[in-house]
Amino acid sequence: MSQTVLVTGGAGFIGSNFIHYWLKNHPEDTVINLDALTYAGNPASLQDIAGLPNYVFVEGNITDGELVNKIMDDVDVVVHFAAESHVDRSILEPSIFLTTNVIGTQVLLDAALKNHVKRFHHISTDEVFGSLELNSSEKFTLKTPYDPRSPYSASKAGSDHLVRAYGETYGLPFTLTNCSNNYGEFQFPEKLFGLAITNVLEGKKVPVYGDGLNVRDWLYVQDHCSAIEKVLLNGREGATYLVGGLVGDISNIDVVKLILKLMDRDDSQIEFVKDRAGHDRRYAIDWSHLNQELGWSPSVTLEEGLQKTIDWYTQNEAWWRPLKASAQAFFAQNYKPATEAHS
Ligand code: NAD
Ligand code: DAU
Repeated sequence: MSQTVLVTGGAGFIGSNFIHYWLKNHPEDTVINLDALTYAGNPASLQDIAGLPNYVFVEGNITDGELVNKIMDDVDVVVHFAAESHVDRSILEPSIFLTTNVIGTQVLLDAALKNHVKRFHHISTDEVFGSLELNSSEKFTLKTPYDPRSPYSASKAGSDHLVRAYGETYGLPFTLTNCSNNYGEFQFPEKLFGLAITNVLEGKKVPVYGDGLNVRDWLYVQDHCSAIEKVLLNGREGATYLVGGLVGDISNIDVVKLILKLMDRDDSQIEFVKDRAGHDRRYAIDWSHLNQELGWSPSVTLEEGLQKTIDWYTQNEAWWRPLKASAQAFFAQNYKPATEAHS
């Protein structure tokens, strides 16, 4: 049976990949993309599908209750990506993170209830669980308590709590996924992988925060899309699933060295810069329940996913060059020499 799927934040990195993925695999469905086109939203990421009869783009803000209510009238499923998503920007300017990530989510939840949507799927992050010790074998699990430590992760934690509260209090049918660091096509070149690859292509150094020993889990964005699909089709109502791409640790410095190796550059391209304030040391995620319950696992290794990503950025300079130019003021504000103390 065909459905109408409302995707919020569909002009962003993961949202645009998800819309491509969904329309390819579910061509009978209609997708409505509600996006405010902030600095991170880019219609160019969707230009190949812009003319499809079952794709509708609405430029608008998720905090606009009237608009959101109107759009949700005929919607079966909501997949909620829209957010301010960059930790470094949340440190410089927290308030927009609270407005979009918390209030925006609450506005969507109210509209979903009012319009009796069949499923509200909330996209969240592993950052809500805080920071693990380096060199430990501990991983985030469904039992890990929330301990957000940046304005970004605190706002995402707030949104997660709201989604579950609407499920408990009003019976909203929801599912929630907390996933790790995504990388891949159409990522704004301010996050580590997009920035590193495009810096190399521009002949610039790759900035590494602090001592470079921080650890993240890396998930290829297409694999994230297939995990969301599994949860939407077969996930239990009211359930949370953790999504990750790796089983072992890799430090930032090692991941940057891998990128340089795949791009035929040596480690002299690395530049250590001032550390991020409150920089979470280590994330690791146990996604085995998603594998056992829904049969999901990543389709690529980190090296394979990275090669695809490098190839894409190499072939799509016209997509990322203007974005990089537009972010110069942020880069100047964010990046400081390693020796400079936190102000
Ligand atoms: P992104 O920053 O690339 O895109 C966000 C999109 O949301 C943009 O298109 C932007 O225009 C839109 N948007 C922002 N504020 C809006 C508002 N008020 N109203 C309507 N649209 C608005 O983000 P992303 O990396 O694609 O992340 C998508 C979601 O996944 C977010 O909820 C994020 O917290 C979560 N997440 C991301 C990652 C990651 O590694 N990128 C990992 C875990 C979870
Ligand atoms: O864990 C999921 C989260 O992953 C998402 O919820 C966020 O939306 C997403 O932005 C990402 O957050 P991170 O802060 O982990 O990603 P980022 O790419 O900014 O940084 C990854 C690691 O690399 C982190 O330890 C900081 C470091 N870093 C980052 C940048 C941009 C550098 O060393 N140099 C850099 O220039």
